[in-house]
Amino acid sequence: MYDLAIRGGTAVLGDAVVRCDIGVTGGRIAAIAERIEEARRVIRADGLLVLPGGVDTHCHIEEPFPEGGHQEESWESASRSAFAGGTTSVVAHTPQFKGGMLLDQHRAARARAARAMIDHGFHQIIADPSEAAMAQIPALVADGVGSLKAFMTYDALHLDDAGFLAVLQAARRHGLMVHVHCENYDAINLATRTLIAAGCTAPKYHATSRPPVVEREATGRAIALAELVGQPIQVFHVSCAEVAEEIARAQARGVAVKAETCPQYVTLTAEDMDRPGPDGSGFEGAKFMCSPAPRTAADHEGVWAMIRRGVLDVVTSDHCGFSYEGPRGKAKNGRNAAFDAIPNGIPGLAARLPVIFSEGVSKGRIDLPRFVRLVAENPARIAGLYPRKGVIAIGSDADLVLWDAGRRVTITNALMQHAIDYTPYEGMEVTGWPAATIRRGEVVMQDGVVLAQPGTGQWLPRGPAVA
Ligand code: URP
Ligand code: ZN
Ligand code: ZN
Repeated sequence: MYDLAIRGGTAVLGDAVVRCDIGVTGGRIAAIAERIEEARRVIRADGLLVLPGGVDTHCHIEEPFPEGGHQEESWESASRSAFAGGTTSVVAHTPQFKGGMLLDQHRAARARAARAMIDHGFHQIIADPSEAAMAQIPALVADGVGSLKAFMTYDALHLDDAGFLAVLQAARRHGLMVHVHCENYDAINLATRTLIAAGCTAPKYHATSRPPVVEREATGRAIALAELVGQPIQVFHVSCAEVAEEIARAQARGVAVKAETCPQYVTLTAEDMDRPGPDGSGFEGAKFMCSPAPRTAADHEGVWAMIRRGVLDVVTSDHCGFSYEGPRGKAKNGRNAAFDAIPNGIPGLAARLPVIFSEGVSKGRIDLPRFVRLVAENPARIAGLYPRKGVIAIGSDADLVLWDAGRRVTITNALMQHAIDYTPYEGMEVTGWPAATIRRGEVVMQDGVVLAQPGTGQWLPRGPAVA
């Protein structure tokens, strides 16, 4: 007798798309069979796809600022948003501030996540690889942290090559993955100063200040240094094919480099940052401001081509908890603020699966198994969460999404169920939407209603990345 049977759906099992029933016991998948009779609870999935719950390994949730306070997206609201969009596991970031240590931040991050409903882990950001800070890495590893995050740009976070090499060496010593934000800090600073001196301060100049070559150079350098040390890396948020080509070349010569992209790089463009908005000020463009910057419609097709080639094998949201209005939002320095004084990052936790399914599967750019690998299996593998997460297999956590492939929805901010006051995807028509989300055998979202209780999310101790 199973605790739960999901009957009549069509499941994605690796490369196979199969009509089958799924039996769940103790929160785990216990049977995958043509027919499962005996179960205490039955959920009908006729006409629906059954997919592994989404795994989003690049999120910023309730992340503290160096000046104090934290992003307004809380663990509770982020969990709600994730479940609304079919995601059941996330890996977020723990900061380190220049001159600061790691363990205090890690403990504080875990305490903030105590109200999470979603299963979660953390990447540890290294912004200052001092000897004292790096000596704390073994304690983080013992607690289940599986990865370090390095930024090659941003005033508060960026590492020079010496700092980046120190992170790579530490990761190699401790068997951790390194995720990298690749943009050239000095090049961006020079362009920013030049633009602002010329009076070019509007949000649209964010894209001008960081063109693809800035991302390509840093990506090539990060790969070369990782190759030198012999440390695997994953390049975060690749925005265009020009950058992905650097990665493809390295992969072809056997370098252990993985790469992700995000929905914004197949949907938004630099022109979105030039929207006048209702007040005609042009500040509306801040809603689309993220780094790397959104590129062009032609670049979207380039990103899809790189996904089909397998060069980009993960799609995450890079969900960032900044609202438009309010004291922590995009407009916190006023609507006339120069682009370098506007917080970077956009929300996307709930939109990730619908946007990628719609633009990818519904429009025929990718097939269903590739979609599942992009949004669930591959991120779980790289995060050391596979096969507990990211796959429908006997023994895996029963994290499932019942997916209505034909449902047409116009995205609104209310549907995102996050604590942010806007979505960059407002008004976008998508085909494909989650009907229900199941976390460890429990229905946590049904027809848009989130049913989970705060504090029920589990900490995910992570193992090594699985190829
Ligand atoms: O603009 C972005 N992507 N903000 C979030 C932080 C980061 O760079 O990933
Ligand atoms: Zn980044
Ligand atoms: Zn990010």
